[in-house]
Amino acid sequence: MSRRAVLLACTLAAVFTASAARAQHKLEIFSWWAGDEGPALKALIDRYSALYPNTQAINSTVTGGSGVNARAVLKTRMLGGDPPDSFQVHAGQELIGTWVVANRMEDLTPLFKSEGWMEKFPPGLISLLSAKGGIWSVPVNIHRSNVMWYVPANLKKWGAAPPKTWDEFVATCKALQAKGVQYPLALGENWTQVHLWESVALGVLGPDGWSALWSGKMKFTDPRAVKAWDTFGRVLACANPDASGLSWQQATDRMLKGDAAFNVMGDWAAGYMATTLKLQPGEGFGWAPSPGTGGTFMMLSDSFGLPKGVKHRDASLKWLKLLGSREGQDIFNPLKGSIAARLDSDLTKYNAYLQAAAKDWKSNKVVGSLAHGAVAPESFGSQFGTVMEIFLSGKNPQAAASAAQAIADQVRLGK
Ligand code: GAL
Repeated sequence: MSRRAVLLACTLAAVFTASAARAQHKLEIFSWWAGDEGPALKALIDRYSALYPNTQAINSTVTGGSGVNARAVLKTRMLGGDPPDSFQVHAGQELIGTWVVANRMEDLTPLFKSEGWMEKFPPGLISLLSAKGGIWSVPVNIHRSNVMWYVPANLKKWGAAPPKTWDEFVATCKALQAKGVQYPLALGENWTQVHLWESVALGVLGPDGWSALWSGKMKFTDPRAVKAWDTFGRVLACANPDASGLSWQQATDRMLKGDAAFNVMGDWAAGYMATTLKLQPGEGFGWAPSPGTGGTFMMLSDSFGLPKGVKHRDASLKWLKLLGSREGQDIFNPLKGSIAARLDSDLTKYNAYLQAAAKDWKSNKVVGSLAHGAVAPESFGSQFGTVMEIFLSGKNPQAAASAAQAIADQVRLGK
């Protein structure tokens, strides 16, 4: 063989070995952060790829806000023996009541200890991730559910202010309708209606009453809980009738365009408005706690876990280390519209909305979200969508309350 041919053969062999090696190093990350929701995750994956250039990070997403579609796909894959290397899951009952109970996850306590995370995350959050003597996922953020968004200039134009109770909201809604704002509240598909419901119920029941529902101390048929449905019905009358056909972003867009005055949505909406739409917090959009919920922070946390039997365990552990690190959290959260789950993040990297959220997170009373997996297992959460349908079709508070209690009994909520 000529020297040239030998060289060529060697080069080809090197290329093959390198690509084979690359092919061996993969990491599949599974989430519902697609499209408009993608930039924060992408920034984190870019950092991962810079740190580990020999690992190909595969960003597997299934569109659908709040994971409505992703969870179904995940279930098929987990049960079919094809777990992604790491997947997004809400801290709390969504993780514990499903994959931990089914013994499908690795205990991450050793990782928390070796990374010094036991002191870096709030103890309350660690206990939300813990069960059966283990810690089961790494939290990447803290989102707030009970936020009402508006455009300050529009409210000024209409002579309206963000209402402080739900009764005040209904009165403001009527005043806005008299001024020609036909549907003052912008609302989207089914899960966003559950999201609105949790803000209304929190406003009606207060933080202790809300938490009593999930510990089983208050029944859904308690007159106070029935009242939450009644108030919800009056609030719904202020919303667009085509809600079920809109994504959460489309509902937010309606508010931004001035077709509606308010939108109740978690603070990923701040990420969408600031990161994707490049609006200035405080100018392009304003915020207030959902009516009646001032002083309470209804939280949820996105986290990632390590399923048992994944194909690329080492790469997955490196991913978890990055997303639990101060650097990782401060790359991800300013873009996502959430605050860091860690206690030591650099707040100078966060915009005015997020700095305000960080302050509330420290000083407010904290309760967990139903719509985003913190307080109830998926067996309850997924059926609650049906309760919502029952309410939407009959507008009967008592019927909705009884249906919710029947599910609570069936899944032994709080037991
Ligand atoms: C939540 C999730 C957020 C955001 C939102 C809309 O459940 O925690 O990070 O993605 O859904 O899809």
